[in-house]
Amino acid sequence: MSATLTQDLVAADISLSGVSRIYELGDEKIHALRDLTLDIRQGEFVAIKGPSGSGKSTLANVIGGLDTPNEGKIVVGGLDFSKANDKQLSRYRSKTIGFVFQSFNLQAHSTVLENVLLPLVIAGVDRKTRMARAKECLELMGLSDRADQATNKLSGGQRQRVSIARALANWPQIIIADEPTGNLDQANGQNVIEHLTKLNRELNITLILITHDADVANKAPRILEIVDGNVTDRTSA
Ligand SMILES: Nc1ncnc2c1ncn2[C@@H]1O[C@H](COP(=O)(O)OP(=O)(O)OP(=O)(O)O)[C@@H](O)[C@H]1O
Ligand SMILES: [Mg+2]
Repeated sequence: MSATLTQDLVAADISLSGVSRIYELGDEKIHALRDLTLDIRQGEFVAIKGPSGSGKSTLANVIGGLDTPNEGKIVVGGLDFSKANDKQLSRYRSKTIGFVFQSFNLQAHSTVLENVLLPLVIAGVDRKTRMARAKECLELMGLSDRADQATNKLSGGQRQRVSIARALANWPQIIIADEPTGNLDQANGQNVIEHLTKLNRELNITLILITHDADVANKAPRILEIVDGNVTDRTSA
């Protein structure tokens, strides 16, 4: 079964308008996102860069439905977050979006295969389908021969590919990777970026890639630069 056939059919275009996220720490108000307006279409590859504390992870979290803005509107694939119920939002988080983190966030003592099966088990996918799907995701990441190995016996680059396979398990339309190469050396980082961009190219998955690394960002056709919670949009050179 082709992976793309089981994605939701509606294009998961992303639209943010006038989005602000303000954290209150005592008397202090931190504007992590300020009046941010942004559209990302299904199948785009967008890099997000900007200084530490500029709001990159906050942006990833509000797009991923993990955090709620104080102001503004977010619509993804026709789902208006402010009008969605808990069931719709939870389905969105587990099915439409796949997250990849700098620190992998894997179950260290489980096998590679078990890590990739987990989101499928949570989503209630039947045993036969989830086994086939997990193996398909591992194959896409070049990890078929590692399926039964404990995750904590792998290199950093291999671990990150396991976490990409896990993010891919529920046929997401969007992958958000927050500094996926931050804990990796140059060669492993490059390899991970190649695997992520392959998913964008071959499966039309929207790739939102947060990075400090200008060389990594420059691989994207579109670069968003976040400074102080706001965004400058440019096409890469
Ligand atoms: N849970 C929170 N409570 C209070 N302030 C927060 C919280 N999360 C983030 N912030 C603040 O919001 C601002 C944006 O943080 P964010 O994590 O989005 O930055 P970032 O661009 O991802 O930084 P980095 O490159 O270091 O990961 C920062 O000033 C940060 O201190
Ligand atoms: Mg961050």
